[in-house]
Amino acid sequence: MSSPLTLTHQRPTEPIEPGQLRRVCGLFVTGVTVITTGTEGREVGTTVNSFTSVSLDPPLVLFCLHKQSRLHESLRETGGFAVNFLAAQQEPLARSFAGKRAAAFDGVAHHRGADGVPVLSEALAHLTCRTVDEYPGGDHTIILGEVVGIGIPEPRQDPLIFFEGTLGTLPGGQPVR
Ligand SMILES: Cc1cc2nc3c(=O)[nH]c(=O)nc-3n(C[C@H](O)[C@H](O)[C@H](O)COP(=O)(O)O)c2cc1C
Repeated sequence: MSSPLTLTHQRPTEPIEPGQLRRVCGLFVTGVTVITTGTEGREVGTTVNSFTSVSLDPPLVLFCLHKQSRLHESLRETGGFAVNFLAAQQEPLARSFAGKRAAAFDGVAHHRGADGVPVLSEALAHLTCRTVDEYPGGDHTIILGEVVGIGIPEPRQDPLIFFEGTLGTLPGGQPVR
């Protein structure tokens, strides 16, 4: 017998319901990043799990940014961004950078990485990137970046993960709280 969660008979003629698509995609476990950009004193960041690596040679990565995101203007001005992979204990940062408040950077340790983009100093790892292209992707824009800098601070930390709409840690990792 199928449970209410079992979605197997979608007809191609029926539109995919956004809530159901979100629920199915939520079964694909990801890490959590904060994309940061902006000039000195005007740093901005937003929480993103649509990051993926694209190419090793040349070194390319992408993420998908909602068309309404306040980061667009700053990204164009700056010409680049950092991808900060969040560590398990950075769940509060994942939440604060998922809000609209420009003040999310207040009190958050950061420094300037390659090409001068802001980097979250306590992240699990980071990439700094120059934006090389933007592609339309429905209600999002696909941002393609060339990696110009990398960093893995010591000591190594456990990652923050996102699964079924919930932030958490890997089994055996340190608990988030
Ligand atoms: C775990 C998580 C993953 C998210 N992934 C994305 C993403 O890939 N792309 C995106 O545009 N927004 C994503 N969001 C939502 C944005 O963080 C949030 O809507 C945004 O910060 C608010 O608007 P802003 O982009 O203007 O800051 C995510 C939020 C959370 C909590």
